[in-house]
Amino acid sequence: MAEPRPRVWVSQPLYPDIEARLDAWFDVTRTSQVTDHAPDAIAAALAEADGALVTLNDRIGAAEVANALRLRAVANVGVGYNNLDVAALAARGIVATNTPGVLTETTADFGFALMMAAARRITEAEHWLREGRWQGWGFHQLLGADIHGSTLGILGMGRIGQGIARRARGFDMRVLYHNRSRLPEAIERDCAATWVERDALFADADHLVLVLPYTAANHHIVDAAALARMKPTATLTSIARGGLIDEDALADALQAGRLAAAGLDVFEGEPVVNPRLLDCRNVVLTPHIASASLPTRRAMVSLAVDNLIAAMGFGPDAGRPPS
Ligand code: DGY
Repeated sequence: MAEPRPRVWVSQPLYPDIEARLDAWFDVTRTSQVTDHAPDAIAAALAEADGALVTLNDRIGAAEVANALRLRAVANVGVGYNNLDVAALAARGIVATNTPGVLTETTADFGFALMMAAARRITEAEHWLREGRWQGWGFHQLLGADIHGSTLGILGMGRIGQGIARRARGFDMRVLYHNRSRLPEAIERDCAATWVERDALFADADHLVLVLPYTAANHHIVDAAALARMKPTATLTSIARGGLIDEDALADALQAGRLAAAGLDVFEGEPVVNPRLLDCRNVVLTPHIASASLPTRRAMVSLAVDNLIAAMGFGPDAGRPPS
Protein backbone atom coordinates (compact mmCIF):
# COMPACT_ATOMS: atom_id res chain seq x y z
CA MET A 1 0.00 0.00 0.00
CA ALA A 2 1.32 3.52 -0.87
CA GLU A 3 2.53 5.60 2.08
CA PRO A 4 0.02 8.34 2.99
CA ARG A 5 1.15 11.67 1.64
CA PRO A 6 2.31 14.29 4.16
CA ARG A 7 -0.30 16.84 5.09
CA VAL A 8 0.25 20.55 4.64
CA TRP A 9 -1.87 23.40 6.03
CA VAL A 10 -2.02 26.62 4.02
CA SER A 11 -3.33 29.25 6.40
CA GLN A 12 -4.91 31.58 3.84
CA PRO A 13 -5.67 31.79 0.11
CA LEU A 14 -2.54 33.04 -1.65
CA TYR A 15 -1.99 32.39 -5.37
CA PRO A 16 -3.61 29.13 -6.56
CA ASP A 17 -1.22 28.66 -9.50
CA ILE A 18 1.81 28.89 -7.20
CA GLU A 19 0.31 26.94 -4.32
CA ALA A 20 -0.58 24.18 -6.77
CA ARG A 21 3.07 23.08 -6.61
CA LEU A 22 2.31 21.86 -3.10
CA ASP A 23 -0.41 19.55 -4.37
CA ALA A 24 2.19 17.54 -6.28
CA TRP A 25 3.75 16.41 -3.02
CA PHE A 26 1.26 16.86 -0.22
CA ASP A 27 -2.37 16.57 0.81
CA VAL A 28 -3.14 20.24 1.25
CA THR A 29 -5.74 21.71 3.61
CA ARG A 30 -6.67 25.28 2.74
CA THR A 31 -8.72 27.91 4.49
CA SER A 32 -10.62 30.83 3.02
CA GLN A 33 -9.76 33.15 5.92
CA VAL A 34 -7.57 36.14 5.10
CA THR A 35 -7.34 37.60 8.60
CA ASP A 36 -5.64 36.39 11.80
CA HIS A 37 -6.59 32.88 12.91
CA ALA A 38 -7.44 32.42 16.59
CA PRO A 39 -4.63 30.67 18.51
CA ASP A 40 -6.75 27.57 19.14
CA ALA A 41 -7.65 27.34 15.44
CA ILE A 42 -3.95 27.45 14.55
CA ALA A 43 -3.18 24.82 17.20
CA ALA A 44 -5.93 22.55 15.85
CA ALA A 45 -4.71 22.93 12.26
CA LEU A 46 -1.08 22.30 13.17
CA ALA A 47 -1.99 19.22 15.22
CA GLU A 48 -3.07 17.56 11.96
CA ALA A 49 -0.24 18.86 9.76
CA ASP A 50 3.25 17.72 8.75
CA GLY A 51 4.01 21.14 7.29
CA ALA A 52 2.46 24.61 7.18
CA LEU A 53 2.59 27.61 4.90
CA VAL A 54 1.74 30.66 7.00
CA THR A 55 1.84 34.44 6.89
CA LEU A 56 2.42 37.28 9.33
CA ASN A 57 -1.25 36.85 10.32
CA ASP A 58 -0.39 33.60 12.08
CA ARG A 59 1.33 33.78 15.46
CA ILE A 60 2.90 30.43 16.22
CA GLY A 61 4.54 29.77 19.57
CA ALA A 62 4.94 27.03 22.13
CA ALA A 63 1.18 26.77 22.79
CA GLU A 64 0.31 26.43 19.11
CA VAL A 65 2.80 23.59 18.55
CA ALA A 66 2.20 21.79 21.87
CA ASN A 67 0.05 19.15 20.14
CA ALA A 68 1.66 19.41 16.71
CA LEU A 69 3.37 16.06 17.10
CA ARG A 70 3.87 15.44 13.39
CA LEU A 71 4.76 19.00 12.35
CA ARG A 72 8.19 19.19 10.66
CA ALA A 73 8.30 22.56 8.93
CA VAL A 74 6.67 25.99 8.98
CA ALA A 75 7.29 28.20 5.95
CA ASN A 76 6.59 31.85 6.64
CA VAL A 77 5.62 34.10 3.74
CA GLY A 78 7.62 37.12 4.86
CA VAL A 79 11.15 38.15 5.55
CA GLY A 80 10.31 39.16 9.12
CA TYR A 81 9.37 36.20 11.29
CA ASN A 82 8.59 37.69 14.66
CA ASN A 83 5.17 36.01 14.32
CA LEU A 84 7.03 32.73 14.92
CA ASP A 85 8.63 31.74 18.20
CA VAL A 86 11.61 30.22 16.47
CA ALA A 87 13.12 28.91 19.71
CA ALA A 88 9.88 27.10 20.61
CA LEU A 89 9.73 25.57 17.13
CA ALA A 90 13.41 24.56 17.20
CA ALA A 91 12.90 22.94 20.60
CA ARG A 92 10.35 20.66 18.92
CA GLY A 93 12.63 20.02 15.93
CA ILE A 94 10.39 22.05 13.62
CA VAL A 95 12.20 23.88 10.82
CA ALA A 96 11.13 27.51 10.22
CA THR A 97 11.83 29.33 6.95
CA ASN A 98 11.31 32.89 5.69
CA THR A 99 11.51 34.71 2.35
CA PRO A 100 14.51 37.04 2.27
CA GLY A 101 15.79 38.55 -0.96
CA VAL A 102 12.66 38.57 -3.09
CA LEU A 103 11.10 41.64 -1.47
CA THR A 104 14.21 43.78 -1.08
CA GLU A 105 13.72 46.24 -3.91
CA THR A 106 9.96 46.65 -3.52
CA THR A 107 10.34 47.29 0.19
CA ALA A 108 13.24 49.69 -0.33
CA ASP A 109 11.14 51.61 -2.90
CA PHE A 110 8.39 51.96 -0.34
CA GLY A 111 10.72 53.00 2.48
CA PHE A 112 12.10 55.74 0.29
CA ALA A 113 8.61 56.84 -0.76
CA LEU A 114 7.39 56.95 2.84
CA MET A 115 10.41 58.97 3.93
CA MET A 116 9.79 61.43 1.10
CA ALA A 117 6.08 61.65 1.88
CA ALA A 118 6.83 62.45 5.52
CA ALA A 119 9.54 64.99 4.68
CA ARG A 120 7.50 66.79 2.04
CA ARG A 121 4.21 66.52 4.01
CA ILE A 122 2.44 64.90 1.08
CA THR A 123 -0.47 63.23 2.86
CA GLU A 124 -0.89 66.16 5.23
CA ALA A 125 -1.09 68.49 2.24
CA GLU A 126 -3.62 66.27 0.52
CA HIS A 127 -5.87 66.16 3.60
CA TRP A 128 -5.59 69.92 3.90
CA LEU A 129 -6.64 70.37 0.28
CA ARG A 130 -9.53 67.89 0.54
CA GLU A 131 -10.74 69.67 3.69
CA GLY A 132 -11.20 72.77 1.53
CA ARG A 133 -8.59 74.78 3.39
CA TRP A 134 -6.62 75.85 0.30
CA GLN A 135 -7.34 79.53 -0.32
CA GLY A 136 -4.70 80.00 -3.02
CA TRP A 137 -0.98 79.54 -3.54
CA GLY A 138 0.85 80.44 -0.37
CA PHE A 139 4.50 81.26 -0.04
CA HIS A 140 4.69 79.86 3.48
CA GLN A 141 2.30 76.96 3.01
CA LEU A 142 3.24 73.45 4.06
CA LEU A 143 6.98 73.89 3.95
CA GLY A 144 8.80 70.59 4.27
CA ALA A 145 12.33 69.26 4.53
CA ASP A 146 14.60 68.56 1.57
CA ILE A 147 15.64 65.05 0.69
CA HIS A 148 18.35 65.91 -1.83
CA GLY A 149 21.63 66.85 -0.27
CA SER A 150 20.50 65.83 3.22
CA THR A 151 21.87 63.16 5.54
CA LEU A 152 20.12 59.80 5.52
CA GLY A 153 20.53 57.57 8.56
CA ILE A 154 19.78 53.88 8.20
CA LEU A 155 19.40 51.75 11.30
CA GLY A 156 19.78 48.12 10.18
CA MET A 157 21.86 47.71 7.06
CA GLY A 158 20.70 44.37 5.70
CA ARG A 159 19.50 43.89 2.15
CA ILE A 160 16.65 46.41 2.41
CA GLY A 161 18.79 49.01 4.18
CA GLN A 162 21.36 48.67 1.43
CA GLY A 163 18.62 49.05 -1.19
CA ILE A 164 17.55 52.33 0.43
CA ALA A 165 21.17 53.51 0.54
CA ARG A 166 21.58 52.80 -3.19
CA ARG A 167 18.46 54.83 -3.94
CA ALA A 168 19.85 57.71 -1.87
CA ARG A 169 22.78 58.04 -4.27
CA GLY A 170 20.41 59.41 -6.89
CA PHE A 171 19.36 62.13 -4.45
CA ASP A 172 22.93 63.16 -3.54
CA MET A 173 22.35 62.20 0.06
CA ARG A 174 25.10 61.56 2.56
CA VAL A 175 24.41 58.08 3.93
CA LEU A 176 25.23 57.02 7.48
CA TYR A 177 24.30 53.65 8.91
CA HIS A 178 24.46 51.70 12.09
CA ASN A 179 24.50 47.95 12.32
CA ARG A 180 25.72 45.64 15.05
CA SER A 181 28.60 44.80 12.76
CA ARG A 182 30.20 46.92 10.08
CA LEU A 183 29.63 45.86 6.49
CA PRO A 184 32.55 44.78 4.30
CA GLU A 185 34.25 47.73 2.66
CA ALA A 186 33.11 46.74 -0.82
CA ILE A 187 29.45 46.98 0.23
CA GLU A 188 30.03 50.26 2.06
CA ARG A 189 31.58 51.62 -1.13
CA ASP A 190 28.76 50.32 -3.30
CA CYS A 191 26.20 51.97 -0.99
CA ALA A 192 28.39 55.03 -0.40
CA ALA A 193 27.54 54.53 3.27
CA THR A 194 29.55 55.25 6.41
CA TRP A 195 29.19 53.29 9.65
CA VAL A 196 28.62 55.40 12.77
CA GLU A 197 27.75 54.70 16.40
CA ARG A 198 24.03 54.49 17.08
CA ASP A 199 23.87 57.72 19.08
CA ALA A 200 25.67 59.57 16.28
CA LEU A 201 23.20 58.17 13.76
CA PHE A 202 20.27 59.57 15.73
CA ALA A 203 22.02 62.91 16.18
CA ASP A 204 23.27 63.42 12.62
CA ALA A 205 20.47 62.07 10.44
CA ASP A 206 18.11 64.49 8.73
CA HIS A 207 16.03 61.45 7.80
CA LEU A 208 16.31 58.29 9.85
CA VAL A 209 14.90 55.03 8.46
CA LEU A 210 14.45 51.86 10.54
CA VAL A 211 15.04 48.64 8.67
CA LEU A 212 16.23 46.30 11.40
CA PRO A 213 14.59 43.07 12.53
CA TYR A 214 12.59 43.21 15.75
CA THR A 215 13.88 41.19 18.69
CA ALA A 216 13.27 41.35 22.44
CA ALA A 217 16.69 43.03 22.73
CA ASN A 218 15.75 45.98 20.52
CA HIS A 219 12.22 46.50 21.84
CA HIS A 220 11.61 50.29 21.88
CA ILE A 221 15.11 50.97 20.59
CA VAL A 222 13.60 54.31 19.56
CA ASP A 223 12.51 55.59 22.96
CA ALA A 224 12.24 59.08 24.43
CA ALA A 225 16.02 59.25 24.98
CA ALA A 226 16.79 58.26 21.38
CA LEU A 227 14.22 60.70 20.03
CA ALA A 228 15.71 63.48 22.16
CA ARG A 229 19.00 62.99 20.30
CA MET A 230 17.36 63.70 16.94
CA LYS A 231 17.25 67.12 15.28
CA PRO A 232 13.88 68.87 15.63
CA THR A 233 13.89 69.21 11.84
CA ALA A 234 14.45 65.48 11.29
CA THR A 235 12.04 62.78 10.14
CA LEU A 236 11.73 59.17 11.30
CA THR A 237 10.48 56.41 9.00
CA SER A 238 9.86 52.78 9.89
CA ILE A 239 9.19 49.86 7.57
CA ALA A 240 10.51 47.32 10.08
CA ARG A 241 8.33 46.32 13.04
CA GLY A 242 6.19 48.43 15.35
CA GLY A 243 7.80 47.18 18.55
CA LEU A 244 11.01 49.04 17.71
CA ILE A 245 9.41 52.39 18.55
CA ASP A 246 7.92 53.66 21.80
CA GLU A 247 4.88 55.11 20.04
CA ASP A 248 3.81 57.31 22.96
CA ALA A 249 7.28 58.87 23.10
CA LEU A 250 7.10 59.41 19.33
CA ALA A 251 3.68 61.06 19.61
CA ASP A 252 5.06 63.31 22.38
CA ALA A 253 7.98 64.36 20.15
CA LEU A 254 5.79 64.96 17.09
CA GLN A 255 3.22 66.94 19.03
CA ALA A 256 5.81 69.05 20.83
CA GLY A 257 7.66 69.86 17.58
CA ARG A 258 10.76 68.02 18.79
CA LEU A 259 10.63 65.95 15.60
CA ALA A 260 9.38 67.32 12.29
CA ALA A 261 7.56 64.28 10.91
CA ALA A 262 7.34 60.51 10.78
CA GLY A 263 6.36 57.85 8.27
CA LEU A 264 5.12 54.60 9.75
CA ASP A 265 4.14 51.42 7.91
CA VAL A 266 4.27 49.22 11.01
CA PHE A 267 2.70 49.50 14.46
CA GLU A 268 3.13 47.86 17.80
CA GLY A 269 -0.48 46.74 18.15
CA GLU A 270 -1.29 46.08 14.48
CA PRO A 271 -3.94 46.44 13.20
CA VAL A 272 -4.75 48.84 16.03
CA VAL A 273 -2.91 52.13 15.65
CA ASN A 274 -2.00 54.14 18.73
CA PRO A 275 -4.74 56.85 18.84
CA ARG A 276 -2.17 59.46 19.76
CA LEU A 277 -0.44 58.86 16.41
CA LEU A 278 -3.79 59.08 14.61
CA ASP A 279 -4.14 62.54 16.14
CA CYS A 280 -0.78 63.78 14.80
CA ARG A 281 -1.02 65.51 11.46
CA ASN A 282 2.74 65.26 10.89
CA VAL A 283 2.85 61.48 10.55
CA VAL A 284 2.14 59.46 7.41
CA LEU A 285 0.46 56.19 8.36
CA THR A 286 0.19 53.18 6.05
CA PRO A 287 -1.13 49.68 6.83
CA HIS A 288 2.02 47.50 6.62
CA ILE A 289 2.23 47.51 2.83
CA ALA A 290 5.96 47.96 2.18
CA SER A 291 6.26 44.68 0.27
CA ALA A 292 2.79 44.90 -1.25
CA SER A 293 3.30 44.80 -5.00
CA LEU A 294 1.78 41.93 -6.96
CA PRO A 295 5.05 40.62 -8.45
CA THR A 296 6.74 40.70 -5.06
CA ARG A 297 3.89 39.05 -3.19
CA ARG A 298 3.90 36.30 -5.84
CA ALA A 299 7.67 35.91 -5.50
CA MET A 300 7.31 35.64 -1.70
CA VAL A 301 4.72 32.88 -2.00
CA SER A 302 6.80 31.09 -4.60
CA LEU A 303 9.88 31.10 -2.39
CA ALA A 304 7.88 30.01 0.66
CA VAL A 305 6.41 27.10 -1.33
CA ASP A 306 9.91 26.05 -2.45
CA ASN A 307 11.17 26.39 1.12
CA LEU A 308 8.39 24.20 2.45
CA ILE A 309 8.90 21.50 -0.15
CA ALA A 310 12.66 21.46 0.54
CA ALA A 311 12.29 21.62 4.34
CA MET A 312 9.99 18.60 4.18
CA GLY A 313 12.69 16.70 2.27
CA PHE A 314 10.98 16.80 -1.13
CA GLY A 315 11.65 18.68 -4.34
CA PRO A 316 13.91 18.03 -7.32
CA ASP A 317 16.46 15.97 -5.39
CA ALA A 318 13.79 13.67 -4.04
CA GLY A 319 12.70 12.48 -7.49
CA ARG A 320 9.10 12.37 -8.60
CA PRO A 321 6.24 13.50 -6.39
CA PRO A 322 4.66 10.62 -4.47
CA SER A 323 1.50 9.45 -6.26
C1 DGY B 1 7.92 41.04 5.82
O1 DGY B 1 8.05 40.23 4.90
O2 DGY B 1 8.44 40.87 6.91
C2 DGY B 1 7.11 42.24 5.57
O3 DGY B 1 6.95 43.01 6.69
C3 DGY B 1 5.79 41.87 4.96
O4 DGY B 1 5.33 42.97 4.29
